[in-house]
Amino acid sequence: MNILVIGANGQIGSELVPALREKFGRNNVIAADKKISKKSKSSNDDKDLFLDVLNKESLEKIVSENDIQIIFHLAAILSAIAENVPQKGWDININGLMNILEVGRNHNIKKIIWPSSIAVFGPKTPKINTPNDTILRPTTMYGITKVSGELLINYYHEKYDLDVRSVRLPGIISNKTLPGGGTTDYAVEIFYEALKNKKYISFLKRDTKLPMMYMPDCISAMIMLLEAESSQLKRRVYNITSMSFSVEEIAQEIKRHIPEFVIQYDPDFRQEIANTWPESINDSLARKEWKWNPSYDLCAMTKDMIQKLKKRVL
Ligand SMILES: NC(=O)c1ccc[n+]([C@@H]2O[C@H](COP(=O)([O-])OP(=O)(O)OC[C@H]3O[C@@H](n4cnc5c(N)ncnc54)[C@H](O)[C@@H]3O)[C@@H](O)[C@H]2O)c1
Repeated sequence: MNILVIGANGQIGSELVPALREKFGRNNVIAADKKISKKSKSSNDDKDLFLDVLNKESLEKIVSENDIQIIFHLAAILSAIAENVPQKGWDININGLMNILEVGRNHNIKKIIWPSSIAVFGPKTPKINTPNDTILRPTTMYGITKVSGELLINYYHEKYDLDVRSVRLPGIISNKTLPGGGTTDYAVEIFYEALKNKKYISFLKRDTKLPMMYMPDCISAMIMLLEAESSQLKRRVYNITSMSFSVEEIAQEIKRHIPEFVIQYDPDFRQEIANTWPESINDSLARKEWKWNPSYDLCAMTKDMIQKLKKRVL
């Protein structure tokens, strides 16, 4: 089973690739990105490749030369950045995905995993316990590309029987990699600032509550979705979540470990994006159909983040 991860050097890819290599063997996992990390540049590793997903010929070459059967497509422009460069957001998020789907059907790729996002929801979507099937009318370019992407993967599944699978990820919190320009980035930055300076100025308001997930749960969701039997899956796209908290609630939780920590609020343009997203997500279909079950809540995640970051940041 040869696996290609595209967008491998981003927040999720840089932790997914080692997890996949550990599980499926180092030589079976190719990591590709437009941004090449210093480490892979210096190691000259033939399993770490340069790829611009908009270059379909290069993508096809990598897929055929390495006999790829599974693709994780993670390359994207995230919510906050896409609001500033909407045309580029559309180009990479949609034309990049189209290239993957076309290569998928022409090269008999067995499975494609492509993350969607809670950004598919919009101001008219029910905000609390948001169901899997609901109103999808986002007002951000990122959300528009994710809804379009969901429609595209359904189309390729119905029309060409391509096995594409997706989860709508909430904000992802990691102790290893910094986030790549999303609206939930504050939930990672706050830990670095709390440890280094005992102070954080939040770009979201005190009572802004959003769905979140700790990286170990995100990685296990991606691998569980890959390994789910086709007969278990009744749809292509699943809501998943593990916790929801406001900025004030995470600050309070951090204060239990770092009592001197203070938080201030200075909302910027990202507040408008956050205002259109749900507070909490109903992921009962993922739990029922492929046994999704996260391990970390706010308390366990905060404890682990502080323990791990302390060693590196201080
Ligand atoms: N991190 C989150 O909180 C979150 C939440 C919801 C959904 N998602 C989705 O998960 C996926 C991965 O997110 P992430 O947080 O790792 O993103 P990221 O921004 O950290 O990483 C994306 C990676 O894609 C690469 N990339 C961008 N354009 C490319 C191109 N043209 N060709 C090849 N590579 C390119 C970038 O260099 C980067 O390394 C994305 O689809 C994102 O929308 C992430």
